[in-house]
Formats: sequence, C-alpha cells, structure tokens
Amino acid sequence: MGPRSKIIGTGSFVPEKVLTNKDLESMIDTSDEWISTRTGIKERHIASEGENNSDLAILASKRALEMAEIDGKDLDLIIVGTLTPDMPMPSVACLVQCALGATKAGAMDVSATCSGFLYSLSIADKFVRSNPQMKILVIGSEVLSRRVNWQDRTTCVLFGDGAGAAVVTGGDEKGGIISTHLHADGSVWELLTIRGLGTKYPVDEEILSKGWQYIEMQGRDVFKHAVRALESVTNEALTAAGWEKPELDLLIAHQANIRILEYLRERLELPRDKVFINIHKYGNTSAASVPIALDEANRSGRLKKGDKVLMISFGGGFTWAGVTMEW
Ligand code: ACO
Repeated sequence: MGPRSKIIGTGSFVPEKVLTNKDLESMIDTSDEWISTRTGIKERHIASEGENNSDLAILASKRALEMAEIDGKDLDLIIVGTLTPDMPMPSVACLVQCALGATKAGAMDVSATCSGFLYSLSIADKFVRSNPQMKILVIGSEVLSRRVNWQDRTTCVLFGDGAGAAVVTGGDEKGGIISTHLHADGSVWELLTIRGLGTKYPVDEEILSKGWQYIEMQGRDVFKHAVRALESVTNEALTAAGWEKPELDLLIAHQANIRILEYLRERLELPRDKVFINIHKYGNTSAASVPIALDEANRSGRLKKGDKVLMISFGGGFTWAGVTMEW
C-alpha cells in the first residue's frame, strides 16, 4: 500500500449568538425538557444578520491552516460540504479560495447534506493518495437557521449553524486515513427535504406559502433509517480497517440526536468516553457537525497519536458515510 493521506490541522467556528431551549420556549410551543430528552440539545449557535456560510467557513479554515502551519497560497484544492451555500453561484469554496489567497487552488462544493464533510474528505483522500504532495482544505459549513421554519416546532429546535475544517496532505504508511465508505439511497428522498428555491420549484407565492423553502422531515422514519445506515457503515468500516469493536478509541458521529449516538454506543459495546458528544452545545449542524467535533476532540487532547478513530454521518438524500483513520 502507498502513502496514506493524513489530517495535519483542524479548525472550527460557530457564530457568537446562542439560542437556548429556554429561548425557544418563548417562541413556540415546546419545552427544555422535551428537547433535552428527545434530542440531547440544550442550545445552538445562530448566524446573525450579515453573517454568512462563507464567513464561518473562512474563520474555521484559518484556524485549521494555522494549526497545519501552512498558508492559503500553498493549497492545491478546497472542497466544501454544504447544503446551505451563500448563493447557488459561486460556490462557497470559491469565496473561501479568494479570502485565503489560495491562488493555485481549485475549489468546489459537494452536495451530500449532513455527509458533506465525509464525502469531501473521501475525495481529498483519493487526490492525496495519487499525489501525496497535495495540500487540500476540506470544510463542512452550514447556516441551516435560514432554512428552518421557526414556526415548526418539529424541526426548528434541532438545527444550528457552524463550520469545521481540516487540512489533508500525504503522510507516511503508518497513521492517516485508512478507508472511506460512501453510500446513498435516493428512493426515500421525500423523508427529508428542502423542496423549494431550486430550479424545480423556484421562488413564487405558491411555493413560499407551502413553506417549501424550509427543511421538512419525517423525524421518526429518518431516525429508523439513520440508525440502520450508521450501524451498517460502522460494521463495514471496522471490517475494512481490520479493527475489532473494542479496539476503537473514538467514534465521532454526526450529531443529529443523542438517542442515535446512545443506540450506536450500545450496539458497539463502547464505554461512554469513546463516543464524542457535543450535540448539547450546537444541535445538528449538518455537514459542519463531524468536523466541529473532530476539531474539539483534537484541541482538547482527546485524540492521541495512534488512536483508532471512526467518523460516520447520515443525512438527507439519503446519504451516509464512514471514514476510518489512525490519528
Ligand atoms: N416540542 C414539544 N413537542 C414536540 C416537539 C417540540 N419541539 N416536536 C414534536 N413534538 C411532539 C409531536 O407533535 C408529537 O406529539 P403527538 O404525539 O401529540 O403527535 C410528539 O412530540 C412526538 O413526536 P415525534 O416526532 O414522534 O418525536 P420523536 O421521538 O420521533 O423525536 C425527532 C423527534 C427528535 C425529530 C427524532 O425523530 C429524530 O431525531 N429523528 C432523526 C433526525 C435525524 O437523524 N436527521 C438526519 C440528519 S438531518 C439532515 O440531514 C439535515
């Protein structure tokens, strides 16, 4: 096997404004108790007016570049996983490319909903394996608060804004990314959608009155698909990496619901400290969720050299993904 790709820097950024469950109690018919017990979320960060997806992505990226000790102009490629870009055109990646002065980098967005970061990381991994000199910035960034119907208590309590980033380059034969696993099932796409404001249902009175500009989710059905898919990709990834369940040092899963994380923890028979949890602080930040968690695990010293790490995600589409790596 040739040299693997390796993460040499991580960064994250969340907007300053915090919306707590208590705040939501005064906005809609809900309670801190319902939200906490059903989801594990206590608060989420919300972008302020004028604060956009690319702003969060740029700030997270600067932190990742600083840790990696490289300059924007050294980057060869920028990949952003997102479902809430500033605009349909240009991509968030191009805005990041300009802000970082990454003059020799290509730039593209990847549309894979909550799996956007792991899909993007998988693409970066393939590039770096074929050219280990490459330096690739991989980002997950979302401003979901602008695609949430703040009157709909079944969805608005779940989501938050933020961004996470990682710098990937060639490593040695030990450590780094071992395997990547991408999956999708478009047959059940209607269970989780933002139907409107694309080219099929462009802006018009009827679309807006139907609320199709917002996230719609059949929560219970999505839950069932999510646990099944996440367990399956976990088993597939562990087999590919040649790891037994007890060997895993840290599971970094998409932070969608504490009950999904708890279910996975039980199925994998992992102790509590091996499952990274920060959903209480951020809610579901979609593509930003895994890289924010990765950065927090990294900066807090939770990740040690040689640790066996599994990252998994699941989102609309449906898409799901897994990445194994040795830290
Ligand atoms: N406050 C109070 N009550 C509420 C709220 C709320 N915020 N929301 C719903 N309820 C009520 C419902 O109306 C319902 O009342 P009823 O029994 O009188 O009809 C009751 O609570 C139960 O509602 P359910 O939807 O059955 O609640 P559930 O236990 O399934 O939890 C949840 C809902 C949290 C959404 C859960 O289903 C879930 O987490 N699903 C998966 C989410 C996920 O993984 N998404 C994937 C990624 S997201 C992405 O890709 C962008």
